Amino acid sequence: MIDQSNPPHLTVVDHPLVQHKLTHMRKVGTPTGVFRQLLREISQLLAYEITRNLEMTKEAIETPLCPMEAPVLDGKKLALISILRAGNGLLDGVLELVPSARVGFVGLYRDEETLEPVEYYFKVPEAMGERLVIAVDPMLATGNSAVAAIDMLKKAGAKNIRFMCLLAAPEGVETMRKAHPDVPIVTASLDERLNEQGYIVPGLGDAGDRMFGTK
Ligand code: URA
Repeated sequence: MIDQSNPPHLTVVDHPLVQHKLTHMRKVGTPTGVFRQLLREISQLLAYEITRNLEMTKEAIETPLCPMEAPVLDGKKLALISILRAGNGLLDGVLELVPSARVGFVGLYRDEETLEPVEYYFKVPEAMGERLVIAVDPMLATGNSAVAAIDMLKKAGAKNIRFMCLLAAPEGVETMRKAHPDVPIVTASLDERLNEQGYIVPGLGDAGDRMFGTK
């Protein structure tokens, strides 16, 4: 894991397993089912990193040998927020790791001409202000959707938000840093740039299409 000092709120999970799986996801010929499975696997490795410093408390338990004070997670259940539709590919894996998490959805699509996000759905758990909120979307491209989603989560009361993505473009990281400097980003790769259509380069194409087999 490389914790990049510039920008300070970005963590690139440079683990060999993550990087190996990501390379297969990038390949143009990787079939839909394999792509989805790899995304699920990487999401769990990213979740491991993004949940590293969760609050802990102690619970009195009995092992077969003796009583002990054992560590358990403290506080309200996490809120995992999928930014539809591609966020669902990350959500599934994270939920396997944190099955008791509460789940919310933010529906945004990208206007292909303006590249601006348009809202069509919003449903999140109660008591957002008391939870660690992890928003997930595989591609941090322009950053406009991520910023809009986090605006909405803050409006719903969220105070402690982290953002998980598979790939980030420098432009998206910068947009997020300006709008939400309090939101740390965890990603598998900081790619080179965006192209004229707003795709991440080298990237992997349209994450939603590759995940769901659409075009
Ligand atoms: N969304 C995607 O699915 N891919 C990109 O490269 C950029 C945004």
